[in-house]
Amino acid sequence: KAVTSDYDLAEPLSSTTGLRQNLSSYGDAHFSLFLRKAFIKALGYSEDALSRPIVGIVNTSSGFNPCHANGPQLLEAAKRGVNLAGGLAVDFPTISLHESFASPTSMFLRNLMSMDTEEMIRAQPVDAVVLIGGCDKTTPAQLMGAISANKPAIHLITGPMMPGSHNGVRIGACTDCRNNWAKYRAGAIDIEEIAELNDELAPTAGTCGVMGTASTMACILVGLGMMPLKGATPAAVSSARLRIAEDTGTRAVFLTQNTHLTPQVILTRESFVNAITVLQAIGGSTNAIVHLLAIANRHPAVAGQITLDTVDEVGRRTPLLVNLKPSGSNYMTDFHAAGGMPALLQQLRSLLHLDALTVTGKTLGQELDLIGPIRPLAPDSPVNCIRPFDSPLYKRSSLVVLRGNLAPRGAVIKASASKDGRLLSHRGPAVVFRGTADLARRIDDPDLGVTADSVLVLQGIGPVGNPGMPEAGMVPIPRKLAAAGVQDMLRVSDGRMSGTAGGTVVLHVAPESEDPASVLGIVEDGDVIACDVENRSLRVELSDEEIQSRITRRRQAVAEAADTSLGEASSGRGSESTSHWVGRESMRGYKGLYMRSVNQADEGADFDFLTAAGPAKTQ
Ligand code: FES
Ligand code: MG
Repeated sequence: KAVTSDYDLAEPLSSTTGLRQNLSSYGDAHFSLFLRKAFIKALGYSEDALSRPIVGIVNTSSGFNPCHANGPQLLEAAKRGVNLAGGLAVDFPTISLHESFASPTSMFLRNLMSMDTEEMIRAQPVDAVVLIGGCDKTTPAQLMGAISANKPAIHLITGPMMPGSHNGVRIGACTDCRNNWAKYRAGAIDIEEIAELNDELAPTAGTCGVMGTASTMACILVGLGMMPLKGATPAAVSSARLRIAEDTGTRAVFLTQNTHLTPQVILTRESFVNAITVLQAIGGSTNAIVHLLAIANRHPAVAGQITLDTVDEVGRRTPLLVNLKPSGSNYMTDFHAAGGMPALLQQLRSLLHLDALTVTGKTLGQELDLIGPIRPLAPDSPVNCIRPFDSPLYKRSSLVVLRGNLAPRGAVIKASASKDGRLLSHRGPAVVFRGTADLARRIDDPDLGVTADSVLVLQGIGPVGNPGMPEAGMVPIPRKLAAAGVQDMLRVSDGRMSGTAGGTVVLHVAPESEDPASVLGIVEDGDVIACDVENRSLRVELSDEEIQSRITRRRQAVAEAADTSLGEASSGRGSESTSHWVGRESMRGYKGLYMRSVNQADEGADFDFLTAAGPAKTQ
């Protein structure tokens, strides 16, 4: 009966679910449905299957993405969950981004992925979607797209990889990639040993096994309420991960029956505060701050209410409880064995908005009550990596927001990852590098005028200056100092650093140095930089007059560069460091779109036209 009524011209096609969604083409809805059915039947579906609610499953597997290498098994398990609950699962691809295989940086493509995700969710007849992803930029891109599309959505992450082993010591991507590379640079390990390490750093499918950006975003998705409580920590290669996938498919069918539970309904300012509480308590990746700001600014009712100041405010009351690399010493598998996110959230209960709604239809508090008290671990358990609330690893503010004349719109530092805590209050003369090429050319020069007290300043790696804002902010210690035993220095840039990295590193300085009005852009060798984390201050010790006169000179150089040859390297420093800013109006393709549209790190480095507020009124 249902079948023939689909073609009954006297009966209006009122349903908006399943295959009947968005029947707009041709001006004849019945014909559109008729045609759509004809084609989907080519895939072998029966009328019975086609009468079910449709759960789209976003597949981000690719031969270039080891972090999603378990995607096919997760897809199969999620489909099983959908089928068991009476839905029809239909998978579709979006682009796939891996950190190491997306040049110039995966961040350059995050917004493209969010557009792909948004438009494919919107275009296709899905009642709800399961978003399978995991690698750093994937989950934020997917959530940005899902908020804008605003159909019911639930995240399923691929899960962390297992640790590897070297000389009987556990190792894992990518904190130990960096530690060991630094040792190799300093001559502490030889070329044979670094090659052996290379075999073991990423020993299984899955995302980096420390509290890098991927793990951070997974925990944040739980904090936001967009993923079930137990979804963040099971290893990629575990059976628990497959059961999570099956369960996620089942929950997606629940969403098709509760279509009011869209991301814009689930997510409120309170959910974001919960997510930032999680971020601070896990000592998460600084990248997550940029992503959270971009995600919040996609939401019409939250945009502008979650800012860098929110991140700092939440930090001041939130202790660091999870002892994972790079802030601590353990791996995601330990965090999972210690109880994972449910155990952490129980510790954080007094700081959370427990009435925040989640994707299960229940509040965060109800979900925690369902899990009940977590059985305490034996005190000497090797996986004991979640500290009690009143005995934290770091009292508060693992991630701090700095302001001052050097960063009027803010900068970020992961204080808990500082190797040498003394540097959290430091002043010293700047050694300035004008971009990554200049850095590579000079950092190991034996004649570089640098001491352990110098401040390494890297310009030109902001969103526009080096499209994608590369993770070059953890400037390496100059080899001659590293060889002399220096392990940490104060570093300042407008770029990012990997969530798996550590050190006293100030990042995301806004506005970026490429902006002709930026103060970071006019810093010169020998200028004294003062950073005081306790007082949230980042300054260059120059008079306002001197700053203004340098900015004026720089603006003139920019104008001259624009008059002469756009984008062409010329002898003057001003034109070299501002060619991107000037030349972007005439750039073609996605890069042109990116350069003209990307906003600053304090707004999320999203495209202005994708934010809830829409295109910015540009200067
Ligand atoms: Fe994919 Fe680290 S490279 S999570
Ligand atoms: Mg990373």
